[in-house]
Amino acid sequence: MQTSKNRQFILHQRPAGTPTTDDVVLEEHSLAPLAAGQVRVRNAYFSLDPAIRGWMDDTPSYLPPIELGTPVRSTTVGEVVESLDPDFQPGDKVVAMGAWEEFSTVPGAMLSKVQDDNRFPLHYYANILGAVGLTPYFGVMDAGKPKPGDTLLMSAAAGAVGSVGGQIAKLAGCRVVGLAGSDEKCDWIISELGFDAAINYKTCGLIADAIARACPAGVDIYFDNVGGEILDGALLNLNSGARIVFCGAISGYNSAEPVPGPYNWWQILARSVTVQGYLVSDYVDRFPEGIAQMGEWVEQGKIKFREEIVDGFENTFSAFLKLFDGSNAGKLILRL
Ligand SMILES: NC(=O)c1ccc[n+]([C@@H]2O[C@H](COP(=O)([O-])OP(=O)(O)OC[C@H]3O[C@@H](n4cnc5c(N)ncnc54)[C@H](OP(=O)(O)O)[C@@H]3O)[C@@H](O)[C@H]2O)c1
Repeated sequence: MQTSKNRQFILHQRPAGTPTTDDVVLEEHSLAPLAAGQVRVRNAYFSLDPAIRGWMDDTPSYLPPIELGTPVRSTTVGEVVESLDPDFQPGDKVVAMGAWEEFSTVPGAMLSKVQDDNRFPLHYYANILGAVGLTPYFGVMDAGKPKPGDTLLMSAAAGAVGSVGGQIAKLAGCRVVGLAGSDEKCDWIISELGFDAAINYKTCGLIADAIARACPAGVDIYFDNVGGEILDGALLNLNSGARIVFCGAISGYNSAEPVPGPYNWWQILARSVTVQGYLVSDYVDRFPEGIAQMGEWVEQGKIKFREEIVDGFENTFSAFLKLFDGSNAGKLILRL
């Protein structure tokens, strides 16, 4: 290895609201020698995900909070440059639970290898062949239990997960309606992705009424990426026996105050609704199946996706903030 330096975005303090450059600071540190079982990865891409915001808080979650003084945790895709794990060799391409840093040093157990016969661009593993494809694949097909003719309502429908999830639901025979934050996004999901209808939730007036107009037969599956007012509007439009796939709640991630629960929660009882707290990592044993299926659909042109690749390691933090004002166009990726 040539370099002994590592630039890193360090979490200095826990954000109150939208993170700032006082919370996350770019620093340079020396690389420590590898310990037994560790692998050093030169990161090529970061998957910039809304979940990272949650890991910055000191609240119980499915992963421990990022420790103060350590780099910001992130899914990364890169190349092994040094290894003290016999299963990994320099030159291997890997997906890691790494961090916003040039080099991540991780136990081999936290890496997955990109197969040697991989036929896709490497950054697809931070996108459609990573959580972006796998989350909607298992979320729609398994948690959503779609039946032909069902109406599926998708929030953050022009985003990475939502745009792919809507197309998967179409493949399963559903009528698909999406909510997104601009007319351009609404046009895109209908004209390019084949959604049946779209709602601009910023201009539609009362969200519950707009959903009722767009879903005249009611909603059988609500795939929720957003929470908040949109969830409340969806709850008033569910059919008896509907399923909610609770995938995310981005509307509250930057809230400095406790987020109120849904006002219309009672409708879950009134309409015999099943709510599933859904985590893609629960499906880790089935990832090979999901990757194979997503790869096939992409090659067949059945799934389209858009990605916004921001260049330059130093732009990582500013790029991340695009997720929260909706200015990202599709999957947000940082190329180092
Ligand atoms: N459960 C899991 O295993 C899992 C895995 C991956 C991701 N997720 C969740 O999936 C959701 C989408 O993630 P993604 O990576 O695909 O991000 P994304 O949808 O590509 O980007 C986030 C989008 O959310 C929308 N948004 C932001 N603030 C909002 C608000 N206050 N109200 C309504 N919409 C808002 C914006 O689009 P608009 O312009 O339309 O507002 C923005 O573009 C997140 O909640 C994430 O945490 C869950």
